Amino acid sequence: MNVDTMTDTARLTFEDKEIELPVVRGSEGEVALDISKLRGQSGLITLDKGFKNTGSTTSAITFLNGEEGILRYRGYAIEDLAENTSFMEVAYLLVYGDLPTQKRLDWFEDSIKMHTLVHENMKRFFDAFPLGAHPMGMLSAMSSTLSTFYPDSQDPNRSMEDIDMTIHRLIAKLPTLAAQCYKHNMGHPMVYPANDLSYTENFLYMMFGLPTDDYEIDPIINDAINKLLILHADHEQNCSTSTVRVVGSSQANLYSSISAGISALWGPLHGGANQAVIEMLEQIKADGGDLQKWIDKAKDKTDSFRLMGFGHRVYKNFDPRARIIKKSADEVLAKLGINDPVLDIAKQLEEVALKDEYFVQRGLYPNVDFYSGIIYRALGIPTEMFTVMFALGRLPGWIAQWKEMLENGEPIGRPRQVYTGHNARPVQPLAQR
Ligand code: SDX
Repeated sequence: MNVDTMTDTARLTFEDKEIELPVVRGSEGEVALDISKLRGQSGLITLDKGFKNTGSTTSAITFLNGEEGILRYRGYAIEDLAENTSFMEVAYLLVYGDLPTQKRLDWFEDSIKMHTLVHENMKRFFDAFPLGAHPMGMLSAMSSTLSTFYPDSQDPNRSMEDIDMTIHRLIAKLPTLAAQCYKHNMGHPMVYPANDLSYTENFLYMMFGLPTDDYEIDPIINDAINKLLILHADHEQNCSTSTVRVVGSSQANLYSSISAGISALWGPLHGGANQAVIEMLEQIKADGGDLQKWIDKAKDKTDSFRLMGFGHRVYKNFDPRARIIKKSADEVLAKLGINDPVLDIAKQLEEVALKDEYFVQRGLYPNVDFYSGIIYRALGIPTEMFTVMFALGRLPGWIAQWKEMLENGEPIGRPRQVYTGHNARPVQPLAQR
């Protein structure tokens, strides 16, 4: 295979065949081999388990550079957005392509405030869940259930205005449903949304407010939640986003596509890692804090234990989000006057691991999930709600990616395979098997 940079084609020779494949270059200089005609021209397909070397689409939403630790939403650096914007501005940026003017932000926020309530019947579904039901299981179910209250969202020929309405409904209602998941497990009555509050304030109010007393929103907590949601808002073609795109590519409605994304995010190798990190740190603390013992377990191939919150498919030097969250963890805990020994263990673990050849050689550094749980815990969010927080942050990213896939008229996602099973064989009569 060689790439002719003049004609931007690559030539592939295989057996007696030679074919030319177009080369695609991205706006940040990324280069890809377009293999959409490979099978037709050569009978060959590619094989790439976990899609580690495979691009599924072209996208103008998020740019990552794993070697340099760069993350930009629509060209804006995550560090800049985290310091200087609200989560609603970032949600608008991801979905509509640019930061809003004040007028457009008012339109967006007002529209969302009109839809924060969920149908009263939805409360009956919560009554059916067992006490202690994992919030991610409830949230995924409730997201798809929303589609049954808005059947017009399933119409593939719906207008852009209808799609906008569905997008605003989902952004508005998911925090209400997330807070209801928490209230269900607390055995507390649901708190209805208060539309005079900002998006993040309203979520905190629905989570921690009680009909019996006035809940005062701590600006430190609200600012931290705002920043955490921004840092989680999109991350190009990760596992859950690819899931949303593939489900949406069948023309399934947005509510169900997001429900599938929530399910994919739940896995401990993905968004569920933030819950797994805290459980791991608490396990290390309960075990006496022998860090080297756990580092050795993580390196031992015969041991299924992995250092949760470490490693990333793309980032091989550092996850820019982890750096911001680590700094924010220090600030938030200091401001709240909290001394969490688990944070000390996390920092010591990072220090020991990053001196260990196994981790350095494989580019395993703390990722977005390593420190986020420590902040969520300090903010009073229970461990099982950590991944729900991730889903609330990722929602506008999932929606933006789904919308882009729709606008680009992308085909239904249906990968090929290499078959390795039995060759043709006749059925033996039961008595002879
Ligand atoms: C997220 O993709 C995204 O963008 C995801 C995300 C987003 O914003 O959407 O960033 C959010 O999901 C962050 C990742 C959260 N998951 C974890 O923290 C779980 C622990 N990490 C790993 O399971 C792992 O690092 C992954 C899943 C994150 C990445 O796995 P890859 O890219 O498939 O890498 P791999 O499993 O092939 O590992 C390469 C090597 C292997 O060793 P060798 O076979 O080369 O000897 O590194 C080792 C792995 O065994 N390894 C680890 C490890 N992670 C990888 N060894 C110990 N502990 C770890 N955490």
